[in-house]
Amino acid sequence: MIEEILTVLTVRAAPGAREGGLVKEIAGILGRHRRQRKFWAEHLQRTKESITAHMHHADPKEPILLMGAGLCLDVPLDALNSHQAGALLIDAVETRQTRRALKAYPDIEFERADLTGMLADFWLGDKNEVISPPDIAPLPLVGHGMAISCNILSQLPLAFSASPPVNETETKITDAIQKAHIRALLAMDCPALLITDYERVETSGNDPHIVQTVNPDLLPGDPVDVWDWPIAPSGEVAVGLEVRLKVGAWLLNV
Ligand SMILES: C[S@@+](CC[C@H](N)C(=O)[O-])C[C@H]1O[C@@H](n2cnc3c(N)ncnc32)[C@H](O)[C@@H]1O
Repeated sequence: MIEEILTVLTVRAAPGAREGGLVKEIAGILGRHRRQRKFWAEHLQRTKESITAHMHHADPKEPILLMGAGLCLDVPLDALNSHQAGALLIDAVETRQTRRALKAYPDIEFERADLTGMLADFWLGDKNEVISPPDIAPLPLVGHGMAISCNILSQLPLAFSASPPVNETETKITDAIQKAHIRALLAMDCPALLITDYERVETSGNDPHIVQTVNPDLLPGDPVDVWDWPIAPSGEVAVGLEVRLKVGAWLLNV
């Protein structure tokens, strides 16, 4: 708990990220990971392995771009640091844990940025103005050897909508943000690896309740890999409720 409070107090956040709940969310991830380390281990390892297994597609002369670095729990820092042109990690929130971890990796840079292009206008702008997501997310389309979207796609709408969305406006904004992110990945001039959860299975008794965390129509074809992430065993969210995510990896532009 003290670690979570310290994290909230010491993060640096892109404009609108704190107001949009992302600082609280990253402190929550820190606590949940600490409590459920054993249940999360395989997902974190599978994500790292999926990234390292596809890094041979990267142009050695350009840095690798990784979006959604967060606490770097699922980021293979050794492998990224050994990429010839290094790596750039992006997240809207920069924690002191990440700053500390990256000190050992001279060829990895970190940049705080909003990958939706909406956080500042939505949370800090004129409340009467209707903010629409851009058609294509403001990601760098050139200049990288490979792009990795690292367990972030389902999270991008959460500053603007509940999951699942509670009304038509939220459904539209969720779809539009995720579509803009995938469009940008597909428009990049380099291979891209999209790793994301796409389904949440909430089980209480014998009756699983399934929530699509990404609209299946938006997903770009067949994944190269899929696995389960038991994110919340019974007791984490509520006694008798188990939450599991279906995660996939999609290799694009190759
Ligand atoms: C589930 S975490 C990804 C896991 C992360 N790789 C780790 O190991 O901690 C999702 C990340 O997306 C980031 N995020 C959410 N919305 C964002 C936005 N609009 N721009 C940039 N990052 C965002 C959050 O700050 C969080 O770190």
